[in-house]
Amino acid sequence: MPRPTSIHVCSACGHESARWAGQCPGCGEWNTLVEEVRPAARRPSSSGGAATRRAGAVKPVALSEVVAEERTRLSTGIGELDNVLGGGIVPGSLVLIGGAPGIGKSTLTTMAMANLVAAGRRTLYVSAEESAEQIRMRAARLSAPAALSIPVIAETDLSTVLATLEAERPEVCVVDSVQTLSSTELTSAPGSVGQVREVAGEIMRVAKALRIAVLLVGHVTKEGALAGPRVLEHLVDCVLQFEGERERTYRTVRATKNRFGSTNEAGVFEMHDHGLVEVLDASARFVSEATGAPGSVVLCAMEGSRPLLVEVQALVSSSELVPPRRVVSGLDRNRMALVLAVLGRHGGIGLGAADVFVNVVGGVRVDEPGADLAVALAVASAAKRIALTGEGGRPLACFGELGLTGELRTVAHADRRLAEATRFGLGSVLEPDGHRTLRGAIAAALGGEPRMAAA
Ligand code: TYD
Ligand code: MG
Repeated sequence: MPRPTSIHVCSACGHESARWAGQCPGCGEWNTLVEEVRPAARRPSSSGGAATRRAGAVKPVALSEVVAEERTRLSTGIGELDNVLGGGIVPGSLVLIGGAPGIGKSTLTTMAMANLVAAGRRTLYVSAEESAEQIRMRAARLSAPAALSIPVIAETDLSTVLATLEAERPEVCVVDSVQTLSSTELTSAPGSVGQVREVAGEIMRVAKALRIAVLLVGHVTKEGALAGPRVLEHLVDCVLQFEGERERTYRTVRATKNRFGSTNEAGVFEMHDHGLVEVLDASARFVSEATGAPGSVVLCAMEGSRPLLVEVQALVSSSELVPPRRVVSGLDRNRMALVLAVLGRHGGIGLGAADVFVNVVGGVRVDEPGADLAVALAVASAAKRIALTGEGGRPLACFGELGLTGELRTVAHADRRLAEATRFGLGSVLEPDGHRTLRGAIAAALGGEPRMAAA
């Protein structure tokens, strides 16, 4: 019988075992054994067999003497994507693009590769998910003319992909996806924690040695679960998250980790029948689509360092359920629970026996405390069935964080938020500078004395 090439290592206590078990024989923890390649089975690294020799000491150098290589970034030709990456792809870097299936990861990476090909860069598209025909069909619908010139391999075996990287030496490579490639040295199924780690680790080893920038595609489920890209976040240089709802057209790409840039940037895209299109006037669209009906308010949100106006909608209906339903999309669930509690305690709007639904229109996600006031006002407006209108019958806009004692707290970039509202003709903005408390803001919005700050 051939000697097995893998072992199972407990991620909690480090116990090694030849077989997989649900419970670690070492520490008794459940589901902690992860398959790894047995050290002796691993190919010697291309830098020589240093692992088998006793390593010699190296001399530390002062940081001032380190020659910082001028990194020229590779533009993907997609402004919003370059921006999120911090100005393009850094040569030799490893970028993880995570997102739910069907969100558009393959579309975005194909478009980026097409633009790089058009710019004369050596590229490679490794698909472990789709056949070359399927990739061709997608590429053919894209508006990028060079899409059909992207070199492609459809391959699921890790060692074949590594050999191809060594032979082709592309400058930029897409690996779609990390969950469907697998190493034959491990017995566990593709997509398991052990496989995902091995695939990413080996690709990184080769890519760093040959200075190949890799865009590693990874699927995340709605819960962010599955032996997914989460286990890779510490390994890669940059983590991009592709969000939005599959049924909706709007999608956002944001960086949650970036060794070469800020994690503040986000890009907005729209899925068309010829690929993803950057949405440069998202605020204008969301404002023009805002209903202005009871339960609707415009939020001056920040997408990274850029202001974005989005519509927040709420629906309140009497409930037969105990506890009543709380459904939220585009916002943090716990944050909504907090806002509803403050609304009941300090805003005079109790919702104990009502189902509450809150939605950010267009599938946009706003994960920032500045959204609190918008949620509170949308819910208050829905509960009282009073439409929130601002100056000149235009939609009312707002932003601000809610404190637990019912106060309105200032949030970052108030000036940019106000300027964006003004730019799109929203003269009435409720914000912490004009109102110190939630109660005051609600009174102003729902027909108390209109003490709104002029934007
Ligand atoms: P895809 O990029 O395959 O998603 P992922 O790789 O993240 O799983 O595309 C997702 C969806 O987008 C798919 O249902 C088809 C649709 N789509 C368009 O609407 N227009 C297009 O031009 C393309 C290429 C895809
Ligand atoms: Mg795909």
